[in-house]
Amino acid sequence: MGNDAALRFDGVTKEYRGFLGRTPVPALDKFSLTVERGEIFGFLGPNGAGKTTAIHIAMGFMKPTRGAGQMLEKGFGHAATRARVGFLAENVALVHRPAESAVRYYGALNGLRGVTLTKRTREMLELLELEDVVRRNVAKLSRGMLQRAGLAQALVNDPELLVLDEPTSALDPLGRVAVRELLLRAKAAGKTVFLSSHMLSEIELICDRIAILVRGRVARVGKTNELLESRDEAEVVFSGASGAAFPEAVLENEMLRVTVPKSAQRATIEKVWAAGGEVVKVNPARRSLEGLFVSLANQAGPGATVQKPGAAR
Ligand SMILES: Nc1ncnc2c1ncn2[C@@H]1O[C@H](COP(=O)(O)OP(=O)(O)OP(=O)(O)O)[C@@H](O)[C@H]1O
Ligand SMILES: [Mg+2]
Repeated sequence: MGNDAALRFDGVTKEYRGFLGRTPVPALDKFSLTVERGEIFGFLGPNGAGKTTAIHIAMGFMKPTRGAGQMLEKGFGHAATRARVGFLAENVALVHRPAESAVRYYGALNGLRGVTLTKRTREMLELLELEDVVRRNVAKLSRGMLQRAGLAQALVNDPELLVLDEPTSALDPLGRVAVRELLLRAKAAGKTVFLSSHMLSEIELICDRIAILVRGRVARVGKTNELLESRDEAEVVFSGASGAAFPEAVLENEMLRVTVPKSAQRATIEKVWAAGGEVVKVNPARRSLEGLFVSLANQAGPGATVQKPGAAR
């Protein structure tokens, strides 16, 4: 993995201080992850897995207990780098101003000035379909509108890296589609996107790679397609054979499909031929992202614990 990664966590441990001497809460445990430039990276994991904690550490909002990392090749918290990053918080909190003025404010904070600032602000508000509420105070926006305004704020400085903590959690289906397209366009323009989400079907559609965080550790990381391909099962699609020989087959576009263990793949193909059929394709079976997520989250088990923490920070 290159040194010019967009984002890198190197053995980051975070223990939240326990209240009045209580046992500290371990949120990240020697967490390492590299996000390459130009990819859309999905950061998944059950509630409380440590996603927001990792994102806040990367943004420099708090320090790790141990470990370190880099964002756009600078140590976490490097002030000047912040202007090259677009950030959307899990709970959007914008300055209480009219929507347009709030987005402008963040553009100015990140170094935009004059005509460029006005133009970019307008464009982002249009892109997120907020034209009708530009003069409404952000405190009076609906939850979805506020999330859209948060996205406009994150995008206004045309950042190289987007760090988005559940960017579509409040959006209606139209908004979700729009954000999906927006992220794909950002990628096409060479940007990097790091997003956490519980919307697994969306993640599956747009992410090049995925990491699943469970109890502060990476339980699985890899290319989306490869993670979802089953190593143990194959799908055989065929036509022309009598369905009677394959009671377990599923009818799909006038063809039949069976899922079999890899070890039975050859025998199945021969069985299709013997029944007078023709094999159309043989693929590794695909599992759903939800299936993978659930099995990893359960493997860690409710009884499993993150390594016992040392002293609180
Ligand atoms: N400020 C804090 N003080 C103490 N503990 C905290 C604090 N913030 C988070 N935690 C704990 O750290 C763990 C990780 O929380 P975090 O918010 O990072 O999870 P998450 O993966 O973002 O979850 P979600 O999917 O619900 O957003 C949880 O056990 C949480 O209770
Ligand atoms: Mg979170």
